[in-house]
This record gives sequence, structure tokens and C-alpha cells, in this order.
Amino acid sequence: MPTLAVYPGSFDPLTNGHVDIIMRGARLFDRIVIAILVNAEKSPLFSMDERVEIARAVFKDLPNVEVDTFDGLLVDYVERRHAQVIVRGLRAVSDFEFEFQMALMNRRLNGKIETVFMMPAEQYTYISSRLIKEVFSLGGRVHGLVPDMVEERLQAKVGASGEDPRKK
Ligand code: PNS
Repeated sequence: MPTLAVYPGSFDPLTNGHVDIIMRGARLFDRIVIAILVNAEKSPLFSMDERVEIARAVFKDLPNVEVDTFDGLLVDYVERRHAQVIVRGLRAVSDFEFEFQMALMNRRLNGKIETVFMMPAEQYTYISSRLIKEVFSLGGRVHGLVPDMVEERLQAKVGASGEDPRKK
């Protein structure tokens, strides 16, 4: 049976750390679904449509990478998709505690689903969406840390009237 993996997250925005994990997942599993959580944050910087559009554009040449959205419990979404695996990235020991809690809670909720942790390349181990937004909002360079399209969209938000991520 083909192995379908779900890579859930907020992806606000997609970083090169996420991209690295997805590429690794696409090599390991028959298919990997980037599952973007609806309403994770009250006021995300990137709208759901933008996040879906960016992920689809970045992975347009990888036929076994799919982009979808989900709401509610992750395990319910995974079950609905008939997927067997949840993929999560582990960057550092500091990630471990929360990830361990989530993995065990998800296992308790649905024992048929396995969580698989993957490590990104070491040059991405310090990147997070939150840090990208903070650094960019304070005028720092995020080049090379996010896909070019994300960088362009961040710049565009500065240019667009009334929507300055530096003020968020
Ligand atoms: O990118 P993030 O914010 O680290 O992703 C967290 C995410 C989306 C994986 C997590 O919040 C989640 O699974 N939310 C869905 C609701 C749910 O199932 N909660 C119980 C998890 S134990």
C-alpha cells in the first residue's frame, strides 16, 4: 500500500526549513500532503489563500507533494485522508518537549497513525516562521531563509498601502 504522509503546520510563512523537510519527506514517502491549519492564529501575516498559493508554487514540479488545508483535530484529518504518517521537523532539543507531547497525544487519539520526526539540514535549524517575521519586521535580511516567493511577498506587503508587516 502506498504510504501517504501529512506534514501539518501553520506555515505563516513557509520557510526553507519547511521546504527542506518536505523534500526529504517526498523522497521517503509515496506522497506527502502539506496540511495548512486554518485559523491557527487570529491575525496571520499571510492569508490562507496566500499560504496555499505559495506552497503550491514552490512545489509545482514535485508531483507527489500536495497542498491542502485542515480544520479541527489533526488525527481526524489524517484519518479522512487515509494517511498513515504525520511528519514533524525537529530542529533542536528545545522543540522536543512540545513535539513529544503532541505526538503522544495524537497517538492516544488514534493509535494507527505514526508520527515521524525529521531533521532539516543544519543550516536551517535556527529558522522559524516567527523569527522570520520578527527579523523582517525589524528590517533584517531574510534572503536564503525563505523561498524567493515568500521574500517577494514580504517586500510587497511593505509596499502595499496600509499593510506593513513591520507594524504587525
Ligand atoms: O506550525 P505549527 O504551528 O507548529 O503547527 C502546529 C500544528 C498545526 C501541527 C498543531 O497545532 C495541530 O496539529 N493543530 C490541530 C489541532 C489538533 O489536532 N490539536 C491537538 C494536537 S496534539
